[in-house]
Amino acid sequence: MLPAVRRDPIGVFMRAARQFGDVTYFKIGPRRGFLVTNPDDVRHVLQDNARNYHKSPLYEKLRMFLGNGLLTSEDDFWLRQRRIAQPAFHRQRMAAIAGVMAQLARDAAARWRPLAAAGRPVDIDEEMMRLTRTVVLRALLGADLGPFTSTIDDAWTIINQHVGESFWSLGLDTLPTLKYRRFKAARAVLRGAVDHVIAERRRNPSGSADLLSMLMSARDEETGESMSDDQLRVEVTTFLLAGQETTSLALTWTWYLLSQHSAARDRLEAEIDTVLDGRPPDYSDLANLPYLRMVVDESMRMYPPAWGFSRQALADDTLGGFRLPRGWLAFVIPYVMHRLPAYWQDPDVFEPERFLPDRSAERPKFAFIPFGAGPRRCIGDQFALIETQLSVATFAQQYRLHLQPGHKVDPWPLITLRPRFGMPMTIERRT
Ligand code: HEM
Repeated sequence: MLPAVRRDPIGVFMRAARQFGDVTYFKIGPRRGFLVTNPDDVRHVLQDNARNYHKSPLYEKLRMFLGNGLLTSEDDFWLRQRRIAQPAFHRQRMAAIAGVMAQLARDAAARWRPLAAAGRPVDIDEEMMRLTRTVVLRALLGADLGPFTSTIDDAWTIINQHVGESFWSLGLDTLPTLKYRRFKAARAVLRGAVDHVIAERRRNPSGSADLLSMLMSARDEETGESMSDDQLRVEVTTFLLAGQETTSLALTWTWYLLSQHSAARDRLEAEIDTVLDGRPPDYSDLANLPYLRMVVDESMRMYPPAWGFSRQALADDTLGGFRLPRGWLAFVIPYVMHRLPAYWQDPDVFEPERFLPDRSAERPKFAFIPFGAGPRRCIGDQFALIETQLSVATFAQQYRLHLQPGHKVDPWPLITLRPRFGMPMTIERRT
């Protein structure tokens, strides 16, 4: 299935699930494995028997680029890094961070005023990427990119495309082609930016308990040593990548869906206008904006930014009654899970109301897994949810976004699910 999977992974997995049900055997290049779509089997792989699984060799590309950090490492080393980072994501920290998020969304919204007046389409994908990157930088790393601010956008796009496109490929993609040279140059920009962030903090140590200070002050229990510079660089790059990209895509797909569904958009605007009465949203408002949360969930259901992931079995296992031999892969594909007709009525229809409590009660928890599950569940899930809700509320209070007429929207499954041709939208001012 390698050529087919490389061409259209989502199509292949969707058709397999439709045709074969809970478990489908796959041979992809030299790798063999099962696509599992029964929520019980997904729970087994990600949670109940998580000890029997490592991230699959498909992550090797990501590891080559990122290094061995929280997203890509395993076992004791992973656990140590996770424990170091975890306090930065505690509930109490989130409340403080939400203030920074709300302020940055307000600043970005203010910058849209002239764009709205000019009436020219803006690439919302790029706008959201910039916003979420700034949020990670300020809220977690207490930094900005100094001289790298202007070069990071292009570098980011090149890296993403290169790592994403090579995800399913078998070669190492290190031939000295023009494309590879561009990738290397982009990687140097990113590395420069990360080094800048770390050097700035060393120059001006901050009193704040943010993620960067946790990473920098962590000491090994046995040796008392701090994290090496290399490891610090790996973790900062990991958070910059994992925190910006996915959240930004959740926002971009939300704007797209709202632009296509005026009834949902009207209902969202009405909720925001009634609850906020014109003042900017903050963290404490989120509990009173239930429809906003349903919109965000429904957007991540239809277009899960982390659309698919995979694991490798360390020992033989049984999935759905079939033996999965050691070394084989288990594919867990949120995009497929989120559109299974058994759990989602009219799965291709955007309908935030399906997340109303009484309509969700019967649904298995593992049918909705935008943040993964089990020990390797996203560490930034609450961070991302707060950020998306505050950002949507801030922008939707002031603007309506319209997709440029005739623009083709094509979900592009790289490592994350991106709009292949961007998301050009015009900004209409509401207030
Ligand atoms: C809508 C936004 C987000 C989505 C959909 C998302 C999704 C995911 C998923 C599915 C995983 C698990 C992957 C696997 O099991 O193979 C994951 C892991 C991770 N995410 Fe997120 N994420 C989001 C936002 C964030 C944010 C904001 C941060 C950091 C600020 C972050 C940092 C991480 C890290 C470090 C991991 C690895 C955790 C570990 O293995 O211990 N993510 N994310």
